[in-house]
Order: sequence, then C-alpha cells, then structure tokens
Amino acid sequence: MTHSATMSLEAIRRLIQPDTQAVDQLIQQRLHSEVALINQLGTYIINSGGKRLRPKLVLLAARACEHAAQDHIAAAAIIEFIHTATLLHDDVIDESELRRGRETANAVWGNAASVLVGDYLYSRAFQMMVELQNMDVMQLMANTTNAIAEGEVMQLMYVHDPDTTEAHYMRVIYHKTAVLFSAAAQLGGLLSDRSSEDIQALAAYGQHLGTAFQLVDDVLDYNSSDTDIGKKIGDDLAEGKPTLPLIYAMRTGSEAQRNLIRQAIEQGGRERINEVITAIESTGAIDYTVRLAREEVEQAIARLSVLPESPYKQAMIGLAKFSVSRTY
Ligand code: IPE
Ligand code: IPE
Ligand code: MG
Ligand code: MG
Repeated sequence: MTHSATMSLEAIRRLIQPDTQAVDQLIQQRLHSEVALINQLGTYIINSGGKRLRPKLVLLAARACEHAAQDHIAAAAIIEFIHTATLLHDDVIDESELRRGRETANAVWGNAASVLVGDYLYSRAFQMMVELQNMDVMQLMANTTNAIAEGEVMQLMYVHDPDTTEAHYMRVIYHKTAVLFSAAAQLGGLLSDRSSEDIQALAAYGQHLGTAFQLVDDVLDYNSSDTDIGKKIGDDLAEGKPTLPLIYAMRTGSEAQRNLIRQAIEQGGRERINEVITAIESTGAIDYTVRLAREEVEQAIARLSVLPESPYKQAMIGLAKFSVSRTY
C-alpha cells in the first residue's frame, strides 16, 4: 500500500486480525463471574458490537513500536474493560436509552445493576493490570481513570449552564475522553520500553485523536440518526449538556438564537430540538466543530513522525482520520 492512501477501518482490522482475535478471547474469558447477573449484563454490553477503537490503538501502537512480547493483548483488553465500565456509568448519568443499537443496560436491568457491573469491569481491569507487573502501566492507568472521573464530574457541574465556555468544554472532553485514547497509545510504547520521547509523542497523538473523536461525537448528536450511531440523537440537548456546537452557536448567533439555545440548555428536553438544529447549522457551528476536530487530527498525525515507518504506523494515521470522517 502506498503511504498516501488512507487505511480504512476494515483494512486496519485485517492488519491486526490475529491480535484482535486474541483480545476478544481474553475479554470473554476475563468477563466471566460466578455471579449470574454480571455475566448476563456484561455479555450484553460487551457483545453488542462496539467499534473497539481503543484496544485497536493499544495493539497498533505496540506493533508500531516493534513490541516483541504478548502482554499488549492483556493491555488492550484492560482498556476496553475500562471503556465499557465508563459507558455503563455514563448511560446511567445521561439517562440514555440506546447504546450500540440496543436498549442500554440501565434500560434493561436498571441503574443499580449498571453501576455495579461497571464497578466490576473497572476492578477486573485493575486485577489484570496488577498481573502485568509493570509499575509504569499501573501509574498511567491509575491517573487515567482518575482523570476520567474528574471529567464526568466537571461535566455534571456544567449541565444546564449556558455560560459554559469553549475552554471549560475543552477541559471536560480532555478528561472524559482524550486521556483514555492517550493512555491506549502510550501503553504500546510503555510495554515496548521505548524512550520517553517516543512515549510522549504517543501520548500526544492519542490525546489529539481522542479530542477529535469527542468533538465529532458531539456533532453526530445533532446531525446523525439513531440507526447510524446506535445511540439516540439529541440526547445531549435533552439533558442540557452545553457541547461545542451549542457554545459556538450562542457566541456567534443572533440574539434570538442565543436566547433559544440558552433556554434549551437551562431547561433540557427535546421540545425545541428542530429550532436548535437550525440555529446550529445556520451559524456554522457544525463546520466550526469539525474544523477543530480536523486540526486535532493533523496534530495527532504530526506527532507520529518519531516512529519508524510501518504499516502499523499507517494504520494509526488511518485511525486518526477515521475519528473525524466517521458516521458512527
Ligand atoms: C463512546 O465511544 C463514548 C465516547 C467517548 C463518545 P465509542 O464511540 O468508541 O463507543 P463504542 O465502543 O464504539 O460503542
Ligand atoms: C462520553 O461522552 C462519555 C465517556 C467518556 C464515557 P458522551 O456522553 O457524549 O458519550 P455517548 O454519546 O453517551 O457515547
Ligand atoms: Mg452519554
Ligand atoms: Mg455523545
């Protein structure tokens, strides 16, 4: 393949197929519990077909760093467990009804079961981490999960607050989303004992990619469809979440548009979603948010220059581009 052609998600999957198969196997194995409800709910969310981007990132980064051992498989499973735990918790907090094209676990089993199985997955991830016996990995993941919790709490503080600024928003998405992508990329380098310069570059790559990913997620919440993203669009507005499309539209729109969006954030609900979407589109808020996401991806890709050329590095570039071009 030429270096200029972008690798599709399908080509990326093929490139690391044996590794991803091993990760899937390990996930099934370590998901298992003697407690029936954990198996039921855990299997339901794990087998409902997520994109598995974060474990792919671990595998690709390890391969791009010429990793020789097999511990990247466990690291990838650990990252997906943590991601899944945050989704279980997030859907409770956001009162979401649809995830990965199915009813959310909280809709099926209730909030308590979702929170507790989320805790199970979190702590299982930490058990597996201890088995890796790598203090740098432990430290990275302890810091990462702590930052995610901070991100979710910060976000909670800004719900229904129309005065949330772009800087506040960027801080939230850095914590709640970008740090996990960053950790996934770093793990590959840490396990391969790369130089601290390489690991910093991987960290920055993951951070920029993750930021782009969340910016686009927040766009898709307004301009996609339930069936495309497997989530209920308009959820962010319904819960009064001040994401960048709204923040930008308030900043640049007419007074009437500003008042409309302020009220929609303060009150939540879906009643005025069509008017809000019109305001977002006419102020160019979608274009602005996507443009920022593209800039983040450019920065992500630039940071990979320290790594040797390989199909894996090309796949990491492809994954960064996918985070913006994605429709699901
Ligand atoms: C959803 O992440 C949570 C966000 C950070 C927006 P993904 O879109 O990667 O979720 P799955 O795993 O593919 O379902
Ligand atoms: C991402 O935010 C949440 C996590 C980091 C767990 P969202 O609330 O936008 O994610 P979705 O849209 O529900 O997947
Ligand atoms: Mg959510
Ligand atoms: Mg979202």
